[in-house]
Amino acid sequence: MAKDQEIDPSTGPNHVAVIMDGNGRWAQARGKPRLFGHHAGAKRVREIVEACPPNGVKYLTIFAFSTENWKRTQTEVAGLMSLFRRYIEKEAKALLKNGVRVRFIGDRMKLDDKLVSLMDELELLTSTNDEIHLTIAINYGGRDEVARATKRLAHEVAAGRLDPKDVDAETLAKFLDTYVLPDPDLVIRTSGEARISNFLLWQSAYSEYEFVDTLWPDFTAEEFGKLVGKFGARDRRFGAVKA
Ligand code: IPE
Ligand code: IPE
Ligand code: MG
Repeated sequence: MAKDQEIDPSTGPNHVAVIMDGNGRWAQARGKPRLFGHHAGAKRVREIVEACPPNGVKYLTIFAFSTENWKRTQTEVAGLMSLFRRYIEKEAKALLKNGVRVRFIGDRMKLDDKLVSLMDELELLTSTNDEIHLTIAINYGGRDEVARATKRLAHEVAAGRLDPKDVDAETLAKFLDTYVLPDPDLVIRTSGEARISNFLLWQSAYSEYEFVDTLWPDFTAEEFGKLVGKFGARDRRFGAVKA
């Protein structure tokens, strides 16, 4: 993108979250197995991450696997888990070099040890990066996240370290997986489905939404830039009335 077309960071979204949907349909349309679509989808991620700085986007959060995706066939689930491992192994160097700080959100308890250790290593390896903050949601569900946060909060109360009188939304937010992240300003979902499928339920209370028909493996940096550019025209009121 040319310099003069760059997005003004004061009006553009600081945090964009993406529900990367449509890999299965993309593959099926080509007569291929669903996993072929997931591989094609994983290849799109680098381009979108690299499109963040020229678009003034500091935080990018992507939905890779939901708490409900375990309902898929064993073949698809195993294929996705192995794809996540390979993605981390293959991309670690480029992520580090490009100043990307990677974080993972979601419940790690159900993930295999090898994948969890790769996730931990990548978080540590990139922990001093600050150019782009990439958060990858694996075994993530908004309801599950709030339930896990509540459980930890309840432990604090039971241990006498937290007074129930002091519990408010801000307190609960500190127990969420996303506690260090700002709320998403813009949530994009590809593939034509207009639903949020348990993604960032708490955090997207005041997010703007864009639902586009493009299937995730066809989603380009150019389309990302257009959606980010449109964001500046939104009138965000957060419940207030402008003077
Ligand atoms: C999104 O693509 C990726 C994951 C949920 C892992 P889908 O696999 O949901 O693709 P469709 O929606 O079936 O086309
Ligand atoms: C949401 O997509 C989850 C991810 C993109 C990882 P799904 O394809 O699982 O959502 P539904 O089933 O269509 O609501
Ligand atoms: Mg889907």
